[in-house]
Amino acid sequence: MSDFTSKKLSANKHAAPAKPERVPCWACGTSVGVSGMSPLDFAVCPNCGERVLVPTDLDQFRLTRFLGQGAMGRVYLAVDQTLNREVAVKVLRRAYFSSPKMWSQLEKEAKAAGRVMHPRVVQVYRLGKAENRPYIVMELVNHPTLETLMKSSAITLDAIRRIAVDVMEGLRAAEATGLVHGDVKPANILVDERNHAKITDFGLARFIHREQSVERWGTPYYMAPEKARQEQEDFRSDLYSLGATIFHVMADRAPFEGETGDEVIELALRDPTPYLSDFRKDLPKVFSKIVYKMMEKDPDDRFSSYDEAIEAVRGGRPIPETRRGIRSPFWARVRSFLVESPAESGIDSRRASR
Ligand SMILES: Nc1ncnc2c1ncn2[C@@H]1O[C@H](COP(=O)(O)OP(=O)(O)OP(=O)(O)O)[C@@H](O)[C@H]1O
Ligand SMILES: [Mg+2]
Repeated sequence: MSDFTSKKLSANKHAAPAKPERVPCWACGTSVGVSGMSPLDFAVCPNCGERVLVPTDLDQFRLTRFLGQGAMGRVYLAVDQTLNREVAVKVLRRAYFSSPKMWSQLEKEAKAAGRVMHPRVVQVYRLGKAENRPYIVMELVNHPTLETLMKSSAITLDAIRRIAVDVMEGLRAAEATGLVHGDVKPANILVDERNHAKITDFGLARFIHREQSVERWGTPYYMAPEKARQEQEDFRSDLYSLGATIFHVMADRAPFEGETGDEVIELALRDPTPYLSDFRKDLPKVFSKIVYKMMEKDPDDRFSSYDEAIEAVRGGRPIPETRRGIRSPFWARVRSFLVESPAESGIDSRRASR
């Protein structure tokens, strides 16, 4: 992380892209007209339909292609013209960072994320600002997200185990520096063709949660109960989110599903955690139990360390008992039924088990 400058888009000491009339489409090479368009605008290629970006400079970074969009901003492929290497640049929405206090908080979060250096973590290189628009420069990972992969093909047990171990190794390295991720989800996991994974977006979701006073920020499908209750989060909240991610990938449905984000959270707080083996009878029961343990409602009942969870996923060690002893799926359901009957709560529990 380094300097924080406020500069005009396309105005820096590097040769700014002269306002081009036409740009070659990155996908098919067709020349696409962009005259009169503003920085970061798109034209649609008449030949292949891909989005063609008006080349834009943010400091020394020349943004050349749109890569994807999230809630916090857009991600672009860029060239760092100082080092002559490709990077990914996430341009954040202005609205989130309008005050100096928010900016300095973002700076703090980005610095913390930038300290994590691990092959399983997408490296953060720099935080910058141009035209009052903050951007984060990070390692370019030319691989799809787990979210994209799960939509297009079935993920094997071996693949998800490898992905889970990689993600936990990355999270463990971050935890060693005191960092909790706060938004572990399929869209924040990038996976290569050998099913090795990298985790990205450390701390960003937590930052926005704090700064925007949004009551519950994060992705509801994967949100740990303690986070939904706005209690203290620690690494075990990330472990829950990873368990819910694995569940979603393998069961082809989230552990709790509802019509709205609030309903999903309500179900996750109230209903018993489902077993993966109820949806995927072909998977080993022991794997289902590992995923269940990651998603225990009480953080004290989850794995007590990443080492323990990694060993379990690798199949090297039996799953440790919970504080209250081993819980079978049957007893978990009886217990939850006795604690609160869904009929009394007035919410249709069938929706949660679609
Ligand atoms: N380091 C990277 N290298 C290459 N592509 C990336 C990188 N980071 C993100 N992307 C691409 O950009 C897309 C959008 O990422 P982004 O983090 O903005 O969205 P998200 O994770 O879905 O939402 P959120 O705003 O909650 O993080 C991703 O789906 C991915 O395809
Ligand atoms: Mg993301």
